[in-house]
Amino acid sequence: MIVTTKKLFEAAYGKYAIGAYNINNLEQTMGLFRGNLESKAPFIIQISKGARSYTHKLMLEGLILSAEKVFPEAIFAVHLDHGDEETCYDCINSGFYSSVMIDASHESFEKNVEITKRVVDAAHAKGLVVEAELGQLGGVEEHVKVDEANAKLTDPRQAKEFVKLTGVDSLACAIGTSHGAFKFSGSQGLHFDVLAEIQKQIPGVPLVMHGSSSVPQEEVARINAAGGELKGAKGVDAGQFKRAAELGVTKINIDTDGRLVWTRVHREFFRDKPSEFDLRPIGKVFMAEYAKFIADKNEKLGSAGHLDELRKLVS
Ligand code: G3H
Ligand code: 13P
Ligand code: ZN
Repeated sequence: MIVTTKKLFEAAYGKYAIGAYNINNLEQTMGLFRGNLESKAPFIIQISKGARSYTHKLMLEGLILSAEKVFPEAIFAVHLDHGDEETCYDCINSGFYSSVMIDASHESFEKNVEITKRVVDAAHAKGLVVEAELGQLGGVEEHVKVDEANAKLTDPRQAKEFVKLTGVDSLACAIGTSHGAFKFSGSQGLHFDVLAEIQKQIPGVPLVMHGSSSVPQEEVARINAAGGELKGAKGVDAGQFKRAAELGVTKINIDTDGRLVWTRVHREFFRDKPSEFDLRPIGKVFMAEYAKFIADKNEKLGSAGHLDELRKLVS
């Protein structure tokens, strides 16, 4: 069942974080639903602008609507990840999305407020939830490149002003993470002091942590042992998710870790079976491994086991 992102936030705020997973294709979709059901977790499906244009935006919609029928017990929201204004309006008008992210974090504060407010007005008129970003993460995003050294953490006082001026429903904060597989090139970790201050300034507003992949070292080692070259890859300590959730982080975005699962499975499979050329055997291995990865991640986020209680809230 597709539900509004707001419902998920109401159930989870201050208690656990909901996994927001990016998908691009059929195999990820199947693994995602299986893993969330196995761990009895509600979840958010994230679709980036790049994912929408990988094949055709309607293909992912079709896959998700079919998965909803195949897995009727699943409870989830569908979210546009890192939208620009034009893509936000396209998603708002599609009638398919539960929520959109307008990412104008690269603009000045005033311009970010102006753009976000326009999207919030359009989305709220149609019952959609809006996430915006204040501060800048390091790493690489679709349309913005920010050097980690220049990444700007979210200013808690500005966060209060931003939410007041825009009416946005949830806020993506920069608290030390960055997108991709190479995080924390200095000696940084999560800035819990900043997070605690943000929650103090905007209590009750769900906070979102982007760039939250853990980049497990075992995964990186297996990829490299099978011919990969990921030197120095590292990520967020998954042991910190629950502490972040208690401080208001209600949505945790994970994409890179899923890509690493895909890379490890494919590199090892073809290394070990050099004469294989059928796409289904490897697809089956990937779906099973992706499901395992999702279920394990939900345990770390604290969202595992909350599905039945959520069902009572939404039915
Ligand atoms: O933050 C970006 C997400 O990982 C999506 O990546 O734009 O390559 O689909 P993508
Ligand atoms: P990772 O690159 O850490 O998986 O972050 C994904 C993300 O923030 C998507 O919006
Ligand atoms: Zn992101």
